[in-house]
Amino acid sequence: MTTPEIWTVPDSQQLATEAAHFFLSLGQRAIAAQGHFRVALSGGSTPEALYRLLAHQSFRHQIEWSRLDFFFGDERCVPPDHGESNFRMANESLFGPLGIHSDHIHRIEGELDDPEHAAGRYEAVIRKHFDIPIPSVPRFDLILLGLGEDGHTASLFPGGRAVQERTRLVVPSTSPKGVRQRITCTTPLINGAETVVFLVTGAAKAAPVKGILEPRQEEPREFPGSLIHPTRGRLVWILDRAAASKLTMATEQLVSNEE
Ligand code: 6PG
Repeated sequence: MTTPEIWTVPDSQQLATEAAHFFLSLGQRAIAAQGHFRVALSGGSTPEALYRLLAHQSFRHQIEWSRLDFFFGDERCVPPDHGESNFRMANESLFGPLGIHSDHIHRIEGELDDPEHAAGRYEAVIRKHFDIPIPSVPRFDLILLGLGEDGHTASLFPGGRAVQERTRLVVPSTSPKGVRQRITCTTPLINGAETVVFLVTGAAKAAPVKGILEPRQEEPREFPGSLIHPTRGRLVWILDRAAASKLTMATEQLVSNEE
């Protein structure tokens, strides 16, 4: 099983900076090796600073954006222009500012009435793009993930059926908070990736981070985040100091000298 690499940075802005450097380094390497870079983006608030930074003058010229294809790890079942849409957040912070062509953006159709149908359509989009039939698992170059205070990731929530899915790549799920109906990539798809990166900030996440990275043997709680272990890939946790505050293990301290 993959040993996670754990990087800690002072604060959320430094996290965005380090994540931007890592994103671009992985992308440049993938484009050099295979001519493209296929990424599944995370939703939520944490990654938005990363997306805005990638579109900023100091980073935007460091990669050939037309070589990237953007997918999503999950989506809320709302229209793409809804305030809670992960697509909308990425479109406003990344795709729009960079002028990413719609042919390279593969969003989950959260607006469809039937989440089961939307999940099946998205799985078909992924399989077609990667040209990978059932039962093989497509291999994303990079999947970005966040972590909820309950240890959820993507829209894989504790105790939900989606967490148990071991065959399908994309399924409907239900959130206990906010927009209840979701569509999410599953652990088989996530664990098939070349590189999976968790971006986690804030003291509110310190408990699930500890529970996942340093589980107490006598009380291993089932955090969905603990199910993420790339089968043949790299697992990197980028934490700010507050999110790492309950860890006892040594972590790689990164202090970027970027402004
Ligand atoms: C979503 C994400 C979700 C998110 C966590 C953390 O659609 O919201 O997929 O898993 O990453 O809830 O969210 P924050 O970054 O906002 O804390």
